[in-house]
Amino acid sequence: MTYRTDLEPIQLHHGDCIQGMRQLPADSVDLAVTSPPYNLGVDYAEYDDGEDRDAYLKWSLDWAAELKRILKPDGSFFLNVGASPSNPLLPHQLALAFSDLFVLQNTFHWIKSITVETRDGQQVSAGHFKPINSHRYVNDCHEYLFHLTKDGDVKIDRLALGVPYQDKTNIARWGHNEGKDLRCRGNNWFVPYKTIVSRDKDRPHPATFPAKLAEWCIKIHGRPPESMTMLDPFLGIGHAAVAAQNLGIAQFVGFEIDETYLAHVCEEFGLEPAMF
Ligand SMILES: C[S@@+](CC[C@H](N)C(=O)[O-])C[C@H]1O[C@@H](n2cnc3c(N)ncnc32)[C@H](O)[C@@H]1O
Repeated sequence: MTYRTDLEPIQLHHGDCIQGMRQLPADSVDLAVTSPPYNLGVDYAEYDDGEDRDAYLKWSLDWAAELKRILKPDGSFFLNVGASPSNPLLPHQLALAFSDLFVLQNTFHWIKSITVETRDGQQVSAGHFKPINSHRYVNDCHEYLFHLTKDGDVKIDRLALGVPYQDKTNIARWGHNEGKDLRCRGNNWFVPYKTIVSRDKDRPHPATFPAKLAEWCIKIHGRPPESMTMLDPFLGIGHAAVAAQNLGIAQFVGFEIDETYLAHVCEEFGLEPAMF
């Protein structure tokens, strides 16, 4: 494999993220958006997702400690984790374990699919989910997105993802929104997957998040993208990198242990893996 030594705005590294993060200076990352393996037996090409839970939690603390070292004091770390109906505690176990290192500043719910009843009584469904066949469990249509910070007091830009008020009659009277027709979206984020035709061709990875989810993390962190360094230690096929590029992030660093997945990202960006 050939390595390039010049620094690209998008730096994609093949290898273990703990070793990779050790090469980065302390307090150098503004924003980390990542989805680690969930320890739910997902069938990755290389990584074994079936480790004993205690060992998995210990390893998670190791990489999270390294991430904490390189995160700026006013940085944000968005941790996406899901569960499975028969293994519902994992996200909570991880959040609890990480409370030794970070403050849980916000909990977002990434809604993949939802049905709402409109005012005229219509049932409208949107989004996609993996259907299960069960007499015990309902389909799992959401994952967690924990917003972790060093001190729990990092200023964010709530209105960067603001939505218009449904009832506009009182807008002018309200002080907290300076009379604008924009309110905080809250912590339920509906971000559907794109509809795909061929899994192998269009999304060759078993556990991805949409680039838009990472874009919303960038926006709500609220710093100018052109001044930011962003990290995804578990890059997969690179949706965080796509988000970084879409929004003009100055520097993006990603690590992925699986050469096949990384090759897919490199092809997408026309890059070769960078050197540690
Ligand atoms: C949940 S997936 C991330 C998917 C990604 N968010 C996307 O949208 O494509 C987790 C990834 O972590 C990778 N991985 C596992 N252990 C790793 C390690 N020690 N260092 C770097 N990557 C690792 C796996 O190969 C897998 O692709």
